[in-house]
Parts: sequence; C-alpha cells; structure tokens
Amino acid sequence: MKTTIRKAKTDETPPWSLLLSADGPKPEIEKYLARGELWLAVCGDEWEIMNLAVLQSVQRKGIGTRLLNKARTLARQQGAHRLEVGTGNGGAGQLVFYQRFGFRIVGVDVNFFVKRWHKVWKQNGIPLRDMVRMDIAFDNQIDMRVRRSP
Ligand SMILES: CC(C)(COP(=O)(O)OP(=O)(O)OC[C@H]1O[C@@H](n2cnc3c(N)ncnc32)[C@H](O)[C@@H]1OP(=O)(O)O)[C@@H](O)C(=O)NCCC(=O)NCCS
Repeated sequence: MKTTIRKAKTDETPPWSLLLSADGPKPEIEKYLARGELWLAVCGDEWEIMNLAVLQSVQRKGIGTRLLNKARTLARQQGAHRLEVGTGNGGAGQLVFYQRFGFRIVGVDVNFFVKRWHKVWKQNGIPLRDMVRMDIAFDNQIDMRVRRSP
C-alpha cells in the first residue's frame, strides 16, 4: 500500500489518538502544535471520480448522491486516504452538489480546460477555464512527526 508523507493542513484535525499515544496531556501537545509543524505519513491511495452524470429527466432525485455514497464507501473499503473530484469553474450546480455531500475545495487548476480544449466553452454564461479541485480526506494517518520551530 502506498504511503505519502505530507505536511498537515492548518485546518486539518490532528490525529489525536496517535499524538496522545506518544505524549500528553492534550494541552501540552496543542502548545507545540501551535508553534511547530505536523507531518503525516498517510497510508493508502488517492481515488478520483473522473466522470459522473445523471440523466437530466431524473436529476434532483438523489441518484447522484447515491453514486457519491457508493464511491466514498468503495474508496474507504479499498484503503484510500482521499477521494477527489474536479469540476468546472462555471458549474454552480455541481459546486453545490459536491459541497453538500461533504467535498471541500482544495485548489484550482488554472486554465485546465483551456489547455485541454484549446478553446473556451461557456457554462452558465461563464467562460469554462479552470478546474475546481475538491476532496474528502479519510482519517487513516499511520504516523506523525512534529518539528520544533527555532
Ligand atoms: C451533478 C449531477 C451528477 C447531480 O446529480 P443529481 O442526481 O441530480 O443530484 P442529487 O439529486 O443527488 O442532488 C443532491 C443535492 O445536490 C444539490 N444539487 C444537485 N444539482 C444541483 C443543481 N443543478 N443546482 C443546485 N444544486 C444542486 C442540491 O442541494 C441537491 O439536493 P436537493 O435536490 O434536495 O436540493 C447531475 O446534475 C448531472 O449529471 N449533471 C450533468 C453532468 C455533470 O455536470 N456532472 C458532474 C461533472 S463534474
């Protein structure tokens, strides 16, 4: 299984059970987390939803959400540490759909669609240029290191 070492994001919940298995009490750990860096060894692969579409005549009936549920369950069962999806900058409905489900915006792939199509399509009257990257992170960190700030 793939293991990725990465710095924890500032808004990410630290793996408390692991941290407390190595040190304590919690307020003392919180003190050095506030002035240090938290690094995680994350076990598992990243899964990405590449294409998801529901027939227009049966949209808004919960089918897309059921498919997302299935994707999340499968990814978790197979040991993924993250489920990702990307959608166009002009897709207002899609942005609502994914965020209602629990996806967080984690980045923007600027000019992704311009590079792919070599022309600019419009979506909801908005030039479709950028890919909004979103993910759901699963909590399966297996180790951590904290570096003390100078
Ligand atoms: C995006 C898509 C997959 C959603 O599938 P769906 O079965 O209609 O979605 P759901 O019924 O599960 O919607 C769940 C919630 O997401 C939000 N949502 C879904 N579509 C929305 C839209 N067009 N506008 C605003 N909110 C939307 C709503 O909050 C909805 O709950 P509600 O109907 O109770 O208000 C579907 O609209 C689709 O196939 N679109 C065309 C293809 C596409 O854009 N795919 C995504 C590419 S990234």
